[in-house]
Amino acid sequence: MGPIGVFDSGYGGLTILSDFRKRLPEYDYLYLGDNARAPYGTRSFDVVYEFTLQAVNELFDRGCELVILACNTASAKALRTIQQNDLPNIDPKKRVLGVIRPSAEIIGQFSKTNNIGVLATPGTVSSDSYPVEIKKFSPQCNVFQHACPLWVTLIESNEHLSHAGKEFILKDVEALMAMKKDIDTIVLGCTHYPVLKGYIESLLPEGVNVVSQGSIVTDSLADYLLRHPWIDSKCTKNGTVSFLTSESTAEFNLNASKYIEGIVNSTHISL
Ligand code: DGL
Repeated sequence: MGPIGVFDSGYGGLTILSDFRKRLPEYDYLYLGDNARAPYGTRSFDVVYEFTLQAVNELFDRGCELVILACNTASAKALRTIQQNDLPNIDPKKRVLGVIRPSAEIIGQFSKTNNIGVLATPGTVSSDSYPVEIKKFSPQCNVFQHACPLWVTLIESNEHLSHAGKEFILKDVEALMAMKKDIDTIVLGCTHYPVLKGYIESLLPEGVNVVSQGSIVTDSLADYLLRHPWIDSKCTKNGTVSFLTSESTAEFNLNASKYIEGIVNSTHISL
């Protein structure tokens, strides 16, 4: 038995963990941020897969039976290979889940025009995971994607608050909206982006729905645990949360407050 593992390249997955803790507070969580090697969004398929597998193995070694890839880039580039090729060899009873499928499953319900925008990292956009997955559940929807190569770096360095940073974000939002006139729903397809939600909304015409993944992924996890009682019984429930980072713990503890409430005391690990 062990905590639920939550993995991201850096801080973004904390936005997902924050929702997990609000809705499912009884579980124990172990968060791992690979801050030393973030961002992943501009890295190749092979590198994202290799780094993600290392992180998943680290969480398994620390007792997790269930790991959530709270990172769209890792979900897009590594999840399927880990599920299909690696898990059977590591331990067929352990589970790894991602954040793209739960979001893609229900996003069609948010749109009246059936035109959906996706803002994400270059890695997630080039994988085409969102269009492919959304089409499976909502074939009537058209999906327009725009890659935002600088956003994760801007957010992690707090430059998203500067005039220059805001200009970059504005340009990307305009580029997405120029792809189709009546996009009425935008998925924030990177777990860092909820930090920008208010600003993005302020740039958009009224009636455009900006959707972050936290509550969607949490609903999906709650449902998964209900449907899989044997996994649920392997998740410890003392309401604790611990944090691991591959970078400086002092920096992690300080920056984490941007994404999650409460005091963060992280431990350093080498991946
Ligand atoms: N939070 C990650 C995601 O959801 C950021 C990826 C990155 O490190 O660039 O895609």
